[in-house]
Amino acid sequence: MIDIQSFVVYDLTSALNNVPDWQNLVGKIMTFSDSWDEAINRVREAADIVQIIGEHVQLKRAGNRFSGLCPFHGEKTPSFSVNPQGQFQFFKCFGCGESGDVFDFLMKYQNLSFPEALKDLARRYQISLPERKLNEAEQERRRQRELLHQVNEAAAQLFHEYLLKAPQAEAARQYLRQRGVPPDFVEQYQLGYAPAQWDFITSQLIVKFPAELVEQSGLIVRKDKNRWYDRFRDRVMFPILDLSGKTAAFGGRILGEGQPKYMNSPESLIFEKSRILFGLHQHREAIRKSRRAIVVEGNFDLLLLAVHGISNAVAPLGTALTKEHVRTLRSYCSEVVLLFDGDSAGLKAARRSIPFFLNEQLEAKVALLPQGHDPDSLVREKGAAGIQELVNTAAPLPEFVFSALAQEHGLTLSGKSKIMAELTDLVKQSPDQAQRELIAAHFGSKLGVSLGQLLPGTPLPQAKAEVQELPPLPEDMPVFDHEPIHETFVPLPPKQQRLLSFLVLYPEHFNELIQGGLLDYVRGCVPTVQTVVAAMQQLTAEGSFMPELLLSVLSGSQERQHVADLLRQGSDDVAGNDEEQGQALCGELLAWLRKAQKQQDGAELQQLLQRAIQNGDDGLIQELLQKIYIIRSEK
Ligand code: UTP
Ligand code: MN
Repeated sequence: MIDIQSFVVYDLTSALNNVPDWQNLVGKIMTFSDSWDEAINRVREAADIVQIIGEHVQLKRAGNRFSGLCPFHGEKTPSFSVNPQGQFQFFKCFGCGESGDVFDFLMKYQNLSFPEALKDLARRYQISLPERKLNEAEQERRRQRELLHQVNEAAAQLFHEYLLKAPQAEAARQYLRQRGVPPDFVEQYQLGYAPAQWDFITSQLIVKFPAELVEQSGLIVRKDKNRWYDRFRDRVMFPILDLSGKTAAFGGRILGEGQPKYMNSPESLIFEKSRILFGLHQHREAIRKSRRAIVVEGNFDLLLLAVHGISNAVAPLGTALTKEHVRTLRSYCSEVVLLFDGDSAGLKAARRSIPFFLNEQLEAKVALLPQGHDPDSLVREKGAAGIQELVNTAAPLPEFVFSALAQEHGLTLSGKSKIMAELTDLVKQSPDQAQRELIAAHFGSKLGVSLGQLLPGTPLPQAKAEVQELPPLPEDMPVFDHEPIHETFVPLPPKQQRLLSFLVLYPEHFNELIQGGLLDYVRGCVPTVQTVVAAMQQLTAEGSFMPELLLSVLSGSQERQHVADLLRQGSDDVAGNDEEQGQALCGELLAWLRKAQKQQDGAELQQLLQRAIQNGDDGLIQELLQKIYIIRSEK
């Protein structure tokens, strides 16, 4: 019998030392809980390993087994074998040694984390996974989100049917025909038309849903107390789906000329621009199969590529690619090709995305379109082959940026110093030290300058002396065959450490603390705490939050170490996990947050007071003194 405690210690330790391994980790912690254990087993049993692998690898029966060409290394004769017999169905490649169960296959083949592979298979085989009990605020939020999805779905249906059937939509149908979008693609992407009318959606939706709710979705805009009007008028409507296929928002293109050309739903409880990519839901399978995503700028670019059989494109919604976009893509593919025209704003933005790609270890390439073309016009002129050719000759993003800079400034001495200035800028934008070093090393070698020259003002990492000892490993521990990478572990200020411990160990109080002003306080905390709290917010917004999942979204080594540490050993300060103690500690923290808030308010008032005194604004001075007095007396 494995001693589960040391098993987990081992795994967490190895996760810290060996980054790719962390994907395994979350799953292993999950098995702690019986209900998870049971659910995982049920999924594993339900999943037909031959069917799942067979979707990606051509398998032939060979006796009780199946064999084919290994998808994990190039080979000409099959040494990849799938064994569907018995309780443990598994695959093994006798060529490269890769092996495992159905989860391992999906994780490896599709770049998924364990929870993602589990969720995918659970959905597919309709096995429900255990859910953490939500508190009231979370339940309310979930209800709101659900309702907003219903509103959007109702609208999508109305727009779609109108486009298909209404005589007044003839111009829109004509427009789509003229842009080369056949009816089956109108169907597939559920395109619609919002007529040139002020009350098309308003009149139909506010009889079905509370008007305030519809307003929150952004489909209608408030005119005065009891009147609303349609936001989208005379536009071809693109429903924007989130990863689970729910309609999170709409993009609308005006028919013909007019401003603004495109209009998107405003952000809401269910729509964050920086996270959603248009087309990802529809294209995720194609992206997984090809292991590549093509990023284009426009909705019609994506659509026309698909019409011509290239269905692995995605498009951000009028924004630059964000860290979250890149992270999302990471779990679907191993390569991203940015398809841009030479003078587009997208290109400048692409520079800024370099750190994100480096951070996710996701390969990014750039393919430049010929002058005057966008993917839409190119594919219509040259067909899929024209695009494919471009994509196949795409240059790696960092090289691309470098040669663009070299072309712009030349490689003379003064050219180089200009390039250095721009690169230094790029380096500075990168959020963490390790990453800055990586970029600096990459470009430094090209410019023939040292790391330090590209990393102004950032201290190079200290040598071994500061490295914190990791806890001793159990004696029967397998030996690593690689050198573990120790990174300096930066302890947090005591109060922030205590706060973080509480958040990780008592996540059920998260929302209570948010309402108590946590976010204001966190703004003044060190980046590690800020990042973890942001990740908790994200996971909480997505539904069921478990602290273990933090490791699947955090990428910085500091954050990961802190969280892993807490998960492993709890905290001396806030050990244990009984409800009563959680309540008490939460009360304490709330009081502390209130106090911190007051201190901050006090400081701000003092500043305002100084200014008012300088300006001789007597009325304001009186008012401020009054407020300061109240705060003091409350203390
Ligand atoms: P473009 O202006 O490059 O247009 O916008 P396009 O995609 O070529 O448009 P078509 O072909 O004339 O229809 C690229 C993308 O930027 C966003 C949209 O998502 C658009 O598809 N955008 C553009 C906006 O959000 N608002 C705008 O006003 C314009
Ligand atoms: Mn276009």
